Amino acid sequence: MRLLITGGAGFIGSHFTDMRLKRHPRDLVVVFDKLTYAGNPANLSQAKKNPNFKFVQGDICDRAAVDRVVKKYRIESVVNFAAETHVDRSILSPEDFAKTDVLGTQTLLEAVRKFKLRKFLQISTDEVYGSIERGAFKETDPLKPSSPYSASKAGGDLQVLAYRHTYGLPVLIARSSNNFGPRQYPEKLIPLFATNALEGKSLPLYGDGLNTRDWVYVEDNCAGLDAVLEKGALGEVYNIGGGNTRTNREITYGILKILHKPESLIKRVSDRLGHDRRYALATTKARTLGWKPQWTFAKALQHTVAWYRDNPAWWQPLKSGEYLQYYRKQYKV
Ligand code: NAD
Ligand code: TYD
Repeated sequence: MRLLITGGAGFIGSHFTDMRLKRHPRDLVVVFDKLTYAGNPANLSQAKKNPNFKFVQGDICDRAAVDRVVKKYRIESVVNFAAETHVDRSILSPEDFAKTDVLGTQTLLEAVRKFKLRKFLQISTDEVYGSIERGAFKETDPLKPSSPYSASKAGGDLQVLAYRHTYGLPVLIARSSNNFGPRQYPEKLIPLFATNALEGKSLPLYGDGLNTRDWVYVEDNCAGLDAVLEKGALGEVYNIGGGNTRTNREITYGILKILHKPESLIKRVSDRLGHDRRYALATTKARTLGWKPQWTFAKALQHTVAWYRDNPAWWQPLKSGEYLQYYRKQYKV
């Protein structure tokens, strides 16, 4: 397959790129990425060694640039990871979220239509369903997003489903739960808390710390996405989750324990605006594709935290960025 991976210089997209090159050695893999603050060429250092890998810098909202890359590399299928992804940033400035996550997705769908591509896999999130007090969301549940981020992702999903209904495009949607692993930008809970603890700084825990997420290790998620791309039924949605529901407090204590750091580093701070209480996904449908998570939560957290401990050169420069400096000042951490 001649595959275009948009947003492949980010966290999950770079792991998926590595996995595709390894599992499908005859594929051509072209990463198309704007290189926003979250895109990092260093994430593709392994992929760059492979002659079947190409990188093109570009914006998924730029129709001419998307057309050019599709034509140049005779792309057959697209996996769209490109997005603005951080809920707290979406609360501060929602505009880029609507642009990239809705209009960018629609621009890619236009390319799929124009060039009659074989498959389009949209990478979405469990956050489009909103919060669930108990139980787990199924693919047929209605969308009830509550942050500017999740509303924008839901807008992207609806574009994808509309293009299926109207033009019969060969689309798939995967909705993943909270990922964690190496190379995640240190603004998200696990890398932020692991790197703060390593630096001896406080861990700003929002509200009562009892908000719950369903955590999936990034390699397990990528294996699920690969199964959806290869074997999913066109027009269908698949949930990919780890089945590891944990409160933020549990995650925080877990990180401190692995690093042998004191609980006094925890700092309770004011809650996030509109903070979703709990996410959880039912993954029966994805399991019919022969996929299931391989990592235990404990082993994956240990491995992830050890990676941040051993790779300060990757994350230290990112922590001096404007947003994280502003964040530190806001919470005095
Ligand atoms: P990330 O923020 O680490 O990376 C996003 C990438 O997209 C970056 O490389 C960035 O440069 C690129 N990008 C942003 N805007 C672009 C544009 N306009 N054109 C081209 N490239 C652009 O994100 P991530 O955590 O790897 O998430 C990847 C995808 O998975 C997103 O669609 C996200 O909504 C989804 N997702 C993430 C999680 C999670 O826990 N991280 C969970 C479920 C779903
Ligand atoms: P995050 O990693 O931003 O993912 P999402 O909001 O997309 O689920 O946050 C995960 C959880 O951790 C969420 O409930 C908010 C909480 N959190 C904190 O308590 N403190 C922090 O500094 C951050 C970034 C998140």
